[in-house]
Amino acid sequence: MMCQRTCSFFPVNMKDKIKLLFVCLGNICRSPAAHGIMQEFVDREGLTDRIYVDSAGVAGWHIGELPDRRMRSHAADRGYALMHRGRQFDAKTDFSAFDLILVMDEENYSDITHQAHNETERLKVHYLAEYMQHHRGQHVIPDPYYGGADHFESVIDLIEDACQGLLNAIQDGTIS
Ligand code: 4NP
Repeated sequence: MMCQRTCSFFPVNMKDKIKLLFVCLGNICRSPAAHGIMQEFVDREGLTDRIYVDSAGVAGWHIGELPDRRMRSHAADRGYALMHRGRQFDAKTDFSAFDLILVMDEENYSDITHQAHNETERLKVHYLAEYMQHHRGQHVIPDPYYGGADHFESVIDLIEDACQGLLNAIQDGTIS
């Protein structure tokens, strides 16, 4: 699953990293939360040199923006500082640059897989929810944008569960 090609816009040592891209619709709620939470888990485990984390949106509506104020506030309550600036998924560069593209819901999955140029790229796309260990009945991470505080809290619960499962899969060699 490692990037087979040289990723020309990354520094040389990026070749040795597992590269993860979290994708949602707007890149201001779910994917930047997953990005910040996974980065925190990676850093805590001393794996910063081994795992690269980024996020992007299917849509380009929030390019350059900080994550949604509500998501930043709920994440901060759990100790996560979300500093990512919104960017749009770019099929020309992101499929080759990343090893695993983790989407939040069926709409994201359809939008991203339809942009894949071949089967190798399509197979890089997975639901983040696949990695959840404590919410196994849940197959997607729902959009909280039009929801209340409880929606943001439950989305962070799901993302923490999935990111821990994803990190476990990397550490036990299921993903390499
Ligand atoms: P996200 O949430 O996909 O988790 O970032 C959304 C953010 C913005 C919008 C929709 C969903 N929007 O319609 O602007």
